[in-house]
Amino acid sequence: ETPEDMLNIADIEEHACRTLSKKAWAYYASASDDMRTKTYNNTIFNLVLFRPRIFRDITVVDTTARMLDFETSLPVFVSPAALARLAHPDGEKAIARACGKQGILQMISNNASLRYPDIVSARVSSEQPFAFQLYVQNERERSEKLLRDVVKAGCRAVVLTLDAPTPGKREMDERLAREEARSTGNIDEGEALSANSGRGKGAEGGVGRAMFQGTAGDLVWDDLIWLKEQLRDDIKIILKGLQTVEDVILAAQQVDKRTGKKLVDAVLLSNHGGRALEGAPPPLLVLEEVRAYAPDVFQSLEIYIDGGIRRGTDVVKALCLGATQVGIGRPALMSLAGGFGEAGVFRVIQILREEIETAMRLLGALTIDQLGPQYVNTRQLDAI
Ligand code: FNR
Repeated sequence: ETPEDMLNIADIEEHACRTLSKKAWAYYASASDDMRTKTYNNTIFNLVLFRPRIFRDITVVDTTARMLDFETSLPVFVSPAALARLAHPDGEKAIARACGKQGILQMISNNASLRYPDIVSARVSSEQPFAFQLYVQNERERSEKLLRDVVKAGCRAVVLTLDAPTPGKREMDERLAREEARSTGNIDEGEALSANSGRGKGAEGGVGRAMFQGTAGDLVWDDLIWLKEQLRDDIKIILKGLQTVEDVILAAQQVDKRTGKKLVDAVLLSNHGGRALEGAPPPLLVLEEVRAYAPDVFQSLEIYIDGGIRRGTDVVKALCLGATQVGIGRPALMSLAGGFGEAGVFRVIQILREEIETAMRLLGALTIDQLGPQYVNTRQLDAI
């Protein structure tokens, strides 16, 4: 089988399920408790219907999108996800090359399986954008050192993840770790080790739980000043994991008192792909909350969402409702599986590109700027 045999992202996930190690599948596919939030992230898109227009010249469609201070060829980025080498030896480097060739942003996890500078060195051009995702550590100096390396290697934005100060209860992952501990008496964690944080060893509660050891549990809004101080002025700050309109408003209000400049450039509405709080709202619903109660915020912050995006139509619906860009998590990791590596990730992005173009043509909206609420019927969301 080749990446070209994959017709859609469901095919990619099914291929990954067949070819990944048990441990990698359990770590990637798992989510909290009964995985209802993970499922809901995706099925909520079923409740949004299109309002397509006819009699328009649809011969030329342009998916070029903006993000912060750069352009992307598609309004899609790769969300930060740990341990890509569980799926392929090239890990995050393979994702970097595919993103570079496709012209989209890669967010690199604090818990990536390769060091940030090594991943960035796989860039296909000096212009290729990268963002670094940070989990602030209890030992602040560790995070400060990491950020120094990141700034030096080149970085457009730092993504501060806030929805998982402690991991959710991921039973698929945990069950496998117990099984392995029983059968070997000693878990071999060599392959499941993050290069940046050194975490992942001694995974009694599963790979996910081990990864969170040392993550600060005492972060508050005022800590944004600390983060700003670690960065060069041109590096943007994205907060990830916001789940209410209240927190989006607070994000927009944060200013550096010394300069009067705002501290947050964008927010990524996310519930960690259903891996943190079971029962958390799907990000599409939070986006609707912002549109209803704080529409002005769209003027001061870019708003992204991730979680459950598996089709081009999902992307287009999110954009119609105000998102500037959307992220994919599991699809990027899973597309590395079965020896696919870079070509698998490239294929995932290509599938989304073709699906987005088709959806835009059939909708009668030919540029990303044209996508707006006039193209969707969201009445079914009002009932939630
Ligand atoms: C994640 N996610 C994540 N987020 C983050 O900020 N830092 C991280 O290290 C990770 N690690 C991670 C590992 C794995 C295996 C998964 C599946 C997810 C969350 C990720 O950025 C994103 O929010 C979700 O994956 C989006 O949902 P989908 O696209 O996977 O449904």
